[in-house]
Amino acid sequence: MKRLVPIALSLVLVLAGVAAHTGCATAEDEGEMEMPFGGPEDVTFAKNLWQGMMGYESWKMSSDYYEGMSPHGAFLRMYYNVVNVEGAPYHVIVKDNFGGEGATLEKVAESSEDYLAAVTVMVQRHEGYDPENRNWYYVKYDADGAVSMNEESMALAGRVAKGMDSGCIACHAKAGGDDYIFTND
Ligand code: HEC
Repeated sequence: MKRLVPIALSLVLVLAGVAAHTGCATAEDEGEMEMPFGGPEDVTFAKNLWQGMMGYESWKMSSDYYEGMSPHGAFLRMYYNVVNVEGAPYHVIVKDNFGGEGATLEKVAESSEDYLAAVTVMVQRHEGYDPENRNWYYVKYDADGAVSMNEESMALAGRVAKGMDSGCIACHAKAGGDDYIFTND
């Protein structure tokens, strides 16, 4: 995205490479019946992440407000930081998704909280979390911080829609450079 503060971009690029060495939390239980997302651990991590990223609106590495496209809302703003979650540091990319009646870039920039529709976040987890997909953890929050649900009442947290034709992973897998991040393409 053109407006993103350049330093944020290069840092995300550099840090994504070393991210495997941070954030070694507890090993996931890879039971055969385990769903790739929406489980109790995914939701607990999402809640702790939300606590850890409180105040992200004032993180130094952030973009301006910019016009977005489907599925990420009409107007967007992005933020990056290292956040401690459950005692370990993680690379966290936050995206505010704005929209609603009468939203314009100016109005959103002026009173963003009135137009916040959802907060989508990617966190690079430890090596082995999801090796086929660069170990990214995804979560979507409603504007009030509650973890969003899909139509089947599954929480949108974890390896969201892994193995499916659409959803976070399927779409982000198409990002250039095989890093699952679009912004640096
Ligand atoms: C149909 C494709 C698609 C789906 C599905 C999708 N995204 Fe994205 N996402 C994008 C595109 C394109 C961008 C970059 C452009 C922009 O800013 O909107 C992006 C950007 C992001 C970013 C900023 C980092 C980056 O890649 O630039 C985050 C964080 C993010 N998405 C999270 C999510 C989460 C969480 C989900 C699932 C709940 C999700 N996305 C589903 C297409 C998608």
